[in-house]
Amino acid sequence: MNAAAVSPGGAPLPYRVVRRCPETADAATFKLLPCGPALRPFRPGQFAMLYAFGVGGIPVSVSGLPLGEPALVHTVRAVGAVSRALYGVEAGDTVGVRGPYGVGWDLEQAVGCDVLVIAGGIGLAPLRPLVLEVLAEPGRYGRLSVLIGARTPSDLLYRLQTRSWSAAARVAVTVDRPEAGWRGDVGVVTRLLRDGGWSPDGTCAYVCGPEPMIHATASDLMRAGVAPHRIQVSLERTMRCGEGNCGHCQLGPLLLCRDGPVAGWDRAEPLLAVREL
Ligand SMILES: Cc1cc2nc3c(=O)[nH]c(=O)nc-3n(C[C@H](O)[C@H](O)[C@H](O)COP(=O)(O)OP(=O)(O)OC[C@H]3O[C@@H](n4cnc5c(N)ncnc54)[C@H](O)[C@@H]3O)c2cc1C
Ligand code: FES
Repeated sequence: MNAAAVSPGGAPLPYRVVRRCPETADAATFKLLPCGPALRPFRPGQFAMLYAFGVGGIPVSVSGLPLGEPALVHTVRAVGAVSRALYGVEAGDTVGVRGPYGVGWDLEQAVGCDVLVIAGGIGLAPLRPLVLEVLAEPGRYGRLSVLIGARTPSDLLYRLQTRSWSAAARVAVTVDRPEAGWRGDVGVVTRLLRDGGWSPDGTCAYVCGPEPMIHATASDLMRAGVAPHRIQVSLERTMRCGEGNCGHCQLGPLLLCRDGPVAGWDRAEPLLAVREL
């Protein structure tokens, strides 16, 4: 029997990999179950520190919303030593988990509004639980649009699932470089903003991707008339402790592990404009 509400501090708790689903050539989604006590439930936009034992730990957002079980779902893209080790774990292996950390997406702000989700690459991972939450309560929100950008068609995450979202949402996908057989859009994700389906004054936007993509998207949204406080972005900085103790993730007065990684653009933009030394 799993105890709930274990403190995020201290040693990572062991979780067993019960499912590994390859997404792309360098990304996979994992379902984890606690070997003993479970962490408190995560909210969309929050993250865990995931440990490959003997290698190290990195921040990884929750990418799913398992209901009625103490499972965690994460999608990891292999870019360096730790993420490569985590990408390589198989069903039956054990990883360490600390969390939940950070503030999640603020969906209360979007009640009664159109919801516009804009994702670049692995940035769709932290946004997927938000989309699932909106789809689960359609009467609470206005129209849902999900705009997805990826480097190539082979880099698209959750392909079957995102297609199924089209039944209840406007889903548009674009890639930087097409491959044989691709009939969809080509170009940066901000191009998809021009196709409508949302009204600037009644929209809350949620953005995650590489930082230049976040800048370009937020600028286009503001130009179209979306107020900066209605644009939420999820930011990345190097993290060590995840708990506001080490200072590695500092962005101006914010510690992104504690005060972020989600922030309103009204707050984030002036901080990002200051060049870090
Ligand atoms: C709050 C938060 C949530 C995150 N959520 C996720 C998630 O859900 N899934 C996920 O896969 N990643 C996520 N990341 C990014 C992930 O933490 C990094 O990819 C990881 O820390 C890289 O560590 P490493 O030891 O594998 O690579 P490192 O050894 O640190 O880096 C190796 C090389 O990769 C480059 N690199 C590092 N990070 C990235 C990156 N993000 N993209 C491209 N190149 C990079 C470095 O510049 C370096 O050249 C998140 C980061 C934060 C801060
Ligand atoms: S990661 Fe240590 S203060 Fe944020």
